[in-house]
Amino acid sequence: MSDRTFYVTTPIYYVNARPHIGHAYTTIVADVLARRHRLLGEKTYFLTGTDEHGQKIERSAAAAGVAPQTFADQVSRSFEDLWRRMGITHNDFIRTTSSRHKEAVQHLFATLYERGFIELRTYTGQYCVSDEAFVEVGPGESCPECGRITETLSEENFFFKLSAFQRPLIDLIESGQLAITPETRRNEVLSFLKGGLKDLSISRSSFSWGIPVPEPAASAAAQKHVIYVWMDALANYITALGYGSSDDSLFRTFWPANVQLVGKEIIRFHCIYWPAFLLALNPRLQHKSSEEPPVLPAEEHSAWAREWLPKAVTAHGWLLFEESKMSKSRGNIVRTETILDAFGPLCPQPEMESAALGAQHGHDLFASDVLRYFLLREIPFGQDGSFSFDALITRYNADLANGYGNLVSRTLAMIAQYFEGSIPSPSLERNGGQDPARTERRAMAEAIRDDFQAIQERVHPLFGRYAFHEYLLEVMRLISRIDNFLSASAPWKLAKSSDEEDRKDLATSLFVSAQGIRLATAFLHPVLPFATARAWAQLGLGSIEDAAAQGELKLLHWADLKPGTQLGVLGAIFPRANKGLAQKMTDMESPIAPASIVSTPVEPAPAPVAANTAEQAAAQPTAPSSISIDDFAKIEMRVAQIAVAERIPKADKLLRLVVDLGNERRQILSGIAEWYTPEELIGRRIIVITNLAPRKMRGLESYGMLLAASQDGGKPYLATVPDEAPIGSRLK
Ligand code: MSP
Repeated sequence: MSDRTFYVTTPIYYVNARPHIGHAYTTIVADVLARRHRLLGEKTYFLTGTDEHGQKIERSAAAAGVAPQTFADQVSRSFEDLWRRMGITHNDFIRTTSSRHKEAVQHLFATLYERGFIELRTYTGQYCVSDEAFVEVGPGESCPECGRITETLSEENFFFKLSAFQRPLIDLIESGQLAITPETRRNEVLSFLKGGLKDLSISRSSFSWGIPVPEPAASAAAQKHVIYVWMDALANYITALGYGSSDDSLFRTFWPANVQLVGKEIIRFHCIYWPAFLLALNPRLQHKSSEEPPVLPAEEHSAWAREWLPKAVTAHGWLLFEESKMSKSRGNIVRTETILDAFGPLCPQPEMESAALGAQHGHDLFASDVLRYFLLREIPFGQDGSFSFDALITRYNADLANGYGNLVSRTLAMIAQYFEGSIPSPSLERNGGQDPARTERRAMAEAIRDDFQAIQERVHPLFGRYAFHEYLLEVMRLISRIDNFLSASAPWKLAKSSDEEDRKDLATSLFVSAQGIRLATAFLHPVLPFATARAWAQLGLGSIEDAAAQGELKLLHWADLKPGTQLGVLGAIFPRANKGLAQKMTDMESPIAPASIVSTPVEPAPAPVAANTAEQAAAQPTAPSSISIDDFAKIEMRVAQIAVAERIPKADKLLRLVVDLGNERRQILSGIAEWYTPEELIGRRIIVITNLAPRKMRGLESYGMLLAASQDGGKPYLATVPDEAPIGSRLK
């Protein structure tokens, strides 16, 4: 192991919503980086966690009818559970409600207060609750960042003297000492800085869900204050390492972070507030709060920054779904669990993926690889990218099933068949004599060997620049090259020949393909940790984790693949996925409001009146007594026209309907047969909930629910709409 250390962080995620694939994206990138740096032999630390304080969380908990801590515990656990399911290798999971964090944040606040960088003032301004920030707009106007209406807040507040750091921050960013990538984000931060910095309000007294301002500052204020949630949250990157505690050995080893990954919307918090807090910790800046802070020469800030500021902040773009940023408030999220549940069962031998944890975990790890690959291959890092289930399946089939998986399977199957599962001995020689096909395959084999080193020199730097999509494109090019080489060599034909030269070429072609697979597998390992473990074992090379830990994947040498190596147990790696899986995932995406995962009893809302089976009604999650408009917006109700209605044999209460939704037709089973004849239903315009998870009844799938009004088991009256209401239009 080298002396180099590598510390990577993700933002800590708000617990007002369950994780979706936007959160998974950042976590996956961090995991890929951590795995890569571990295999480079660097001592690596990877931190993630949850951001649990602030008004937003307090309000979400109140809406769910539970205490904020109960709410935070449940949602935070759903993040941790998901990362476990996905095989994420974080070293720590920090929660801002943990006592280790709270104490260290108070220590940070007290230090800055003592240094004269925090003082008490009165402030009136417009506050955006969603972004947890004061914004510069007039009363009643909306937030320039997110468009939501702001609230007027007048508070006695503690202020941080942010304005003192304008010049030092510009210098540090312009000199590259604090690297911000991509370039567009760096420019955005610089232009914001050059526009001038106002002091920052860093406490709140209008609500209490936060870390209390510590003494002696607390006694100076008339009211009780909690620390501003962004100061609380940003500090996680050092509190997790033991900053401000009796054991700060991790802090001394790993801080400053090598890279802090963020979504592009929170770049300013990370590139202005965060480094300013850290610069203010410099004891040489100490002053009385009534005085102006001393002006230090740039070199002094630079020396402090070397020890205290993150080396780089890197922003990625947004995952878009149906054209807009995937987010809870827009109600257009895709849950990672959907992908795990849908793709998992495709895993051929799940127990191989996770011998220790069993088949279910194997399913999850397999599916997690699929999502990892898609996100990194599909989206140029730094840019926004669209997610769709169709694109996921298309990419999976093209690159993983037909590309990498197929190459591994066919090569190894031929080695098993023609060489009794032992890697054959090549004879790389250029001279093909009079036979042009032989000359061609020998030239191709030799070119692959000659290029073996150069490919690695070309591909590895792409990773270092976070150009994951180009990196993976190069790996796929390598796979196609080996595929083409196999097709040109046609080992299955050579195997039928008794010619000595053909026998040699048969061995060479399979050896060279095995080398290509070995190289592709090493390249893919940080991105596809589980599939590559399997391929490596099938190649007879043992544990890829061990190879990674021993630094053997950093740079492969041709000579390290020994002829005679016995292959491991063979099996498919990535079986083809059926296109129908996309519909399955769409159907599985029935929204789950955070309230439905909170177990504390709440007043049950009146059951939604739906003309469906009692069984289905019973399956409705218990709703809190009031729901937010965002929660309501998750229920997709559309106008539909009944195209087909028929009885189901041996089911007295059920009707099978096919409804027309404009751009699609769906089958819905409905328990209204006692009250409606099929004939009177056909042609009616009704209202259908279209985003419920599908249910099976009497062996048939039901993809939605009709709306109807009824009283205690009485006749359900179908909710209808006038004929001019367009089919497919949404009810809001
Ligand atoms: N709690 C703050 C961060 C504090 S860090 C000291 C916060 N949390 S968040 O839950 O809103 O999510 C933050 C991060 O999740 C984003 O910066 C991004 O990394 C990731 N994403 C959330 N939605 C996303 C997309 N739709 N697309 C890509 N990433 C997304 O902000």
